[in-house]
Amino acid sequence: DRLPDLLRLMPKAELHIHIEGSLEPELIFALAQRNGIVLPYASVDELRSAYAFTNLQSFLDIYYAGASVLIQEQDFYDMAHAYFVKAAADNVVHAELFFDPQTHTARGVAIETVIKGLHRACVDAQAELGVSASLILCFLRHLSEEKAFETLEQALPYRDKFIGVGLDSGEVGNPPEKFARVFARCRELGLHLVAHAGEEGPPAYIWTALDVLKVERIDHGVQAIKDPALMQRLAQDRIALTVCPLSNLKLCVFPDLAQHNLRQLLDAGLAITINSDDPAYFGGYMNDNFTQTFAAVGMDAEHAYTLARNSFEASFIDKATLGHYI
Ligand code: HPA
Ligand code: ZN
Repeated sequence: DRLPDLLRLMPKAELHIHIEGSLEPELIFALAQRNGIVLPYASVDELRSAYAFTNLQSFLDIYYAGASVLIQEQDFYDMAHAYFVKAAADNVVHAELFFDPQTHTARGVAIETVIKGLHRACVDAQAELGVSASLILCFLRHLSEEKAFETLEQALPYRDKFIGVGLDSGEVGNPPEKFARVFARCRELGLHLVAHAGEEGPPAYIWTALDVLKVERIDHGVQAIKDPALMQRLAQDRIALTVCPLSNLKLCVFPDLAQHNLRQLLDAGLAITINSDDPAYFGGYMNDNFTQTFAAVGMDAEHAYTLARNSFEASFIDKATLGHYI
């Protein structure tokens, strides 16, 4: 069976990776030591054994705690560089990285430190690994829109170092329309727009992400299956969904991978992509997501080509460069 080799070897783009979610327990401990931080876990194994999640919030609590070891520009660089090495090994040739500045500025880390460290890693990824990379700034949706505006203001001196904005963190109770004004401002600024919607939240959140925020892609979006009119809209407008199967499994969005709806969404003609979300926490990078999902839902080589092509078509790679990939 040569399908797993095809999945591993085919060039692909990753469009849904929270760079703070690529922080492996070993690096968390190394950075804690470097920065003189005492962790509430005795060892790497003890930390990893805490990675048992029941829903999104149970994950977010430990994910924000893990990010607390990031202090210096070099810490952000080292985290992103480690991700790019893994991505290159999985034949990811292009990556669009989410980052959560508010997780760091709330602890007194300057946004300049965050953006400069991550951006330098993106530049080096191209030169050293042949991976093209760009950054997408995410607003934390459990915080206020006013806080999002403050974050945007702090980031604008580095406007040339990120290509767009997204919306992440706890979804239910924090609908996209809570951020209508700040997304409108980002749109005026010419930033690309995406948002997490329909991970745990209802199809209504996907509708408002599209019609109020005017996003270009939906992150997750798997709850769209409950709304036939929404399915039609997503198919007709070729709105990409950045689906993250192992994330959905670990956060109990689906009881097992065989019951994941990715194949149904794909066969319904939606622009589906496969992504890793928070690979250090969910037990798999890109190729793990591809091989395990294909085995579980029984997809074939044609599905593989479609998913790879979708990943480039849904990316924010400029039109001229896109021709090198598809
Ligand atoms: N959903 C919402 N917020 C997040 C996620 C996610 O899957 N990963 C990191 N922040
Ligand atoms: Zn995500």
